[in-house]
Amino acid sequence: MTEVKSSRAVDSLFGATVPVLQAGMGGVAQHELAAAVCEAGAFGMVGLYRHQPNEILELIAATARLTDRRFGVNFVPFVLSDDELIERIGVVLQSNPSRPPIVTFFGLPSPQVLGAVAGRADFGVQAGTFADIEQAFDAGASFTVLQTTDAGGHHLGGIDRAQAIRSAKLLKLSARMVFLSGGISTSGEVKSVLDAGFSGVLCGTIFAAALESAAHAEYKQIIVDARAEDTVITDRFSIGWHTHTHRVVRNKTCTDDLMPAHIIGKVHYFGKNHPIPRYSVAVPTRSTEGEIAAMALYCGTSCKSVDRIATAREIVNQLIL
Ligand SMILES: Cc1cc2nc3c(=O)[nH]c(=O)nc-3n(C[C@H](O)[C@H](O)[C@H](O)COP(=O)(O)O)c2cc1C
Repeated sequence: MTEVKSSRAVDSLFGATVPVLQAGMGGVAQHELAAAVCEAGAFGMVGLYRHQPNEILELIAATARLTDRRFGVNFVPFVLSDDELIERIGVVLQSNPSRPPIVTFFGLPSPQVLGAVAGRADFGVQAGTFADIEQAFDAGASFTVLQTTDAGGHHLGGIDRAQAIRSAKLLKLSARMVFLSGGISTSGEVKSVLDAGFSGVLCGTIFAAALESAAHAEYKQIIVDARAEDTVITDRFSIGWHTHTHRVVRNKTCTDDLMPAHIIGKVHYFGKNHPIPRYSVAVPTRSTEGEIAAMALYCGTSCKSVDRIATAREIVNQLIL
């Protein structure tokens, strides 16, 4: 069995002694979580989702105040235009020109967007197909993440973990850095991923429930209480981003007949209120008010190992011991 420690390549790119990447979850992975994960020896990322350029600078500065370690930022190309994305990448690269945060993308961005980052910063792409993984490396990605269908949140493809591990040789893992994501929550699972030749894992759900996460307290408790079989893949939470199915904890918004998309809450970010209609893609955070249990409760089968709200350090240790 492989020991759970980072390779020289992972250590030198991410500065992480543990081969674990924390997903840059929009709204949930803010500065406290990303910094705490980095301080625990893994690699933390701030989810930038639809944040405005001035907010991005604030989040990056807040993270840098909490850790001297390298951290990452994450963009979701499906929710921004190419121009918006290129502007935001410019802001990230200028935030610390000598050593900018590592830029990551949820899904393969357009060639224009890849052109804006390639050669200017280290970047990585999470993808759900072997073809997208190849395209990301061809465009100059330093690393990729292959997402499998146990994942919480939106799904980029249809590969399950057993299939990913069986097909590992197609990914030329000895020559390049590929991580695996989706439903991973135990050190045994991390070891089997490393044994198959992957460089490490990316985890979302287990960190969404961390003490330092900005997820709403009620949502964190729902993750703690959920079993893998309480999660479901659906397309119900499609207002704001309708192109991909997602895995969530099953709630009445998934199971009831369709209803009018009335406003069921609001979120307050950077001085502004944003209404949340039923079926919104918005995940409940500490800045959200309203019917939390009816919102998009993104959750992977990895909730199987979440039995309390633990610190990021305890969660990282659970993956390596
Ligand atoms: C609450 C939540 C929000 C997410 N938001 C993002 C995001 O903004 N960007 C991103 O790259 N991935 C996002 N993801 C997906 C993760 O990158 C990853 O594919 C997934 O969490 C892996 O499965 P796991 O949750 O079982 O660990 C999100 C996942 C969750 C659970």
